[in-house]
Amino acid sequence: MGVERENIICLGGSHGTHLAVKLARILNVDFDAIEVRNFPDGEIYVRIIPEVKRRTVIYVNSLALKPNQYLVETILTIETLKDLGAEKVYAVIPYMAYARQDSRFKPGEAISIEIVAKMLSNTEVDEIITVDMHLHRIEDPQKLFKVPFHNLTAMHEIAKYIRANYKLENPIVIGPDEEAEQWAKIVAGDLGLEYDVLEKERISGEEVIVKTRELNVQGRDIIVVDDIISTGGTVVETVKALRRLGAKRFLIACTHPLLVKNAYNRIVSLGVEDIIGTDTVLSPISKVSVAPVIAEYITSHIRRDI
Ligand code: R5P
Repeated sequence: MGVERENIICLGGSHGTHLAVKLARILNVDFDAIEVRNFPDGEIYVRIIPEVKRRTVIYVNSLALKPNQYLVETILTIETLKDLGAEKVYAVIPYMAYARQDSRFKPGEAISIEIVAKMLSNTEVDEIITVDMHLHRIEDPQKLFKVPFHNLTAMHEIAKYIRANYKLENPIVIGPDEEAEQWAKIVAGDLGLEYDVLEKERISGEEVIVKTRELNVQGRDIIVVDDIISTGGTVVETVKALRRLGAKRFLIACTHPLLVKNAYNRIVSLGVEDIIGTDTVLSPISKVSVAPVIAEYITSHIRRDI
């Protein structure tokens, strides 16, 4: 059984309104924003004004840039939607924060994503939908989230954008580390190119060492593909390493352009051809939208008969 169009509403949180609007337009359903403020002491105030009783709510909020603020906002919102009588709440969390801390790398560390997943799963949410979540060491994310969970990919949209906008010479797709192989493989597959991955060693939150193996990149254009650009350290070291091997032009692509600190300037000053990100995170390089991918999933999964 599907849901009638008028019984569906897309609601945007503080870091989701830009996407909720696009989703609502594609799905041809109502849209509204959620009122969110901070009290003077920092606590979060959430108010839901549109009627949600007996409706299916697609709530969009990305846990990027202010992860702690948006996580609490998301939990307050989901619970309030259910308390106000929403029939179903689908939480679209395009960027899932804390996913990189998925293991106890040093004794005593919190395995943050397990705890965040537990917090979200303990709400009355009906399903969590995310995009290119960092799942390298997590074999089955459904075991992590106790509620239905779906991880979509933006990589096909990124490949489409690259195909439509660039003419590259003898290009190869490169993932900066083995974790990025899954994404490099999709982009390379869609563009009919070969791909390879480098080796990365993380020294600190901001410092990485990137090692190349035997790679034939002399005179070739490179498409660097990763899930996240945070400080830009990974991309900068990848470009430098491949340049030493004679690579020519660089196109940098990622799903989540966190671009913290001066990441954007660091990458631009390398003289790369372009930097492409998606709108899972609002940024100056969010040129590709994940709205069509999310809309397609929702249409096929939630609104089968519309
Ligand atoms: C981690 O393994 C991710 O896939 C990215 O490579 C990483 O988060 C990028 O971080 P940064 O831009 O700070 O190097």
